[in-house]
Amino acid sequence: MKQLNKADNKNIIYPIFEEQKIDSKIIDTLQFDINDTINRNFGEVTKVYTLGKYPFTFILFIGLGKKEAFSTAKLRKLVAKISCHVQEHMNLVIDHLGDDVISRSTFVRVWVESHITSQYQEQKIGHDPKPITDLDIISSVYLDRAIKFGTVYGEGINYARRLSDMPSNLMTPAIMAEEAAKLAKEYDIEYMVLSKASLEEMKAGGILAVNQGSQIPAYMIVLKYTHNGNAEHQAVIGKGITFDSGGYNLKGNSYGMKYDMCGGADVLGIMRILAGIQAKTNVYGIIPVTENLVNGKAYKPQDVITTMSGKTVEVVSTDAEGRLILCDAITYAQKLGATRLIDLATLTGACVNALGDVYTGVFANDDEYYHEFEQAMKAADEKGWRLPLDQAYLDKLKSNSADLKNSAGKPGAGASIAANFLESFVEKDTQWIHLDIAGTADQDGTGATGAMIRSVVEMMK
Ligand code: BES
Ligand code: MN
Ligand code: ZN
Repeated sequence: MKQLNKADNKNIIYPIFEEQKIDSKIIDTLQFDINDTINRNFGEVTKVYTLGKYPFTFILFIGLGKKEAFSTAKLRKLVAKISCHVQEHMNLVIDHLGDDVISRSTFVRVWVESHITSQYQEQKIGHDPKPITDLDIISSVYLDRAIKFGTVYGEGINYARRLSDMPSNLMTPAIMAEEAAKLAKEYDIEYMVLSKASLEEMKAGGILAVNQGSQIPAYMIVLKYTHNGNAEHQAVIGKGITFDSGGYNLKGNSYGMKYDMCGGADVLGIMRILAGIQAKTNVYGIIPVTENLVNGKAYKPQDVITTMSGKTVEVVSTDAEGRLILCDAITYAQKLGATRLIDLATLTGACVNALGDVYTGVFANDDEYYHEFEQAMKAADEKGWRLPLDQAYLDKLKSNSADLKNSAGKPGAGASIAANFLESFVEKDTQWIHLDIAGTADQDGTGATGAMIRSVVEMMK
């Protein structure tokens, strides 16, 4: 993807608003006034063959609809919708759009990003993934930065989706740790990993309990991106269950549970984008990673474990494992000194019931921090809905044998109960947002989505 000052004789993509006339040079060259035949309604594609009048074969006119109704959110939809018409190496012409609706640089940044994400396909194992078609942007205004940013975002999101879509036998905790190490090396990010031995030393009893039933040791992956001097590091934490069988509370149907590490993959995508755009910020990326399986050593219902925080937890359900690995990650992030935390986790089926695959469940222990995030979601064109935290939910996690239990059974509001469990590991002066992406992280048919990557990047940068 690059910028050219002049079209280089490839087929042209020509987006156009309802209020606009087609450039008279095009009409002159075609020797036919097509102004009345081009449908400019939003999302309409009109293919006009050049019949030898140009050294290329056709122009794709893309209707943008009315100027006043246009937005970056609509642009994202549009690019996805027309991606089936876009062939290898076309020229995208944009100068005629001007800057009054959205700036041309924003238009190009969002177009390039959406171009890259809309061509993503889950990879058939053993085959190379389908490459993204090249696109040159024809313009006289400076667009290098817009193209660069669009590319970094698009590729970062696809990278996270690629990791997420991998089957669990090919994306084990060990492989995920290797991927993180590779990323860190390539992008000059600091990398640390707490092995099982260090987790034992740190008394990370949550993640270790979940890991008991797996043949593969657990890891706490830590990436440290420092690009803002001595400022404090924020932390992004992602649930990394590479497969969730439910443990002894075995799931009836665990199809789809390879996606239980999407939060972790998203964290890697977020770190890659931050480093790619050289964002002036300091961020820890923390991923507790393990399988949740069953064997003779696996943890069992009513086991009492001691988490890294020192708090004891009665395991009511071995299927409420996400919160057990996340509570240790939250404690660890605070031990590292972070006082602003965001976690992403495919945490509860209850969140899927409430919001489906449309909205991410958003929880925050601080209104100001939430409002910041609301702005970030708006800027990123992503959908999240705030759900409540309340002492009354936490009260449902009282245990006779431990400080708290990891599940309340089925009293409803499972997403809030899980969030309140996590909140009890967040210290008073720490700002914290929890994103329950159980419904939004993957979609039937298209696979992993990279949900909330853009919003969290927006927040961190
Ligand atoms: N990974 C699941 C949540 C999930 C469900 C993600 C469906 C995506 C789709 C999580 O570990 C889980 O099993 N949660 C339980 C918690 C319950 C036992 C308290 C749930 O939601 O049923
Ligand atoms: Mn589970
Ligand atoms: Zn899970």
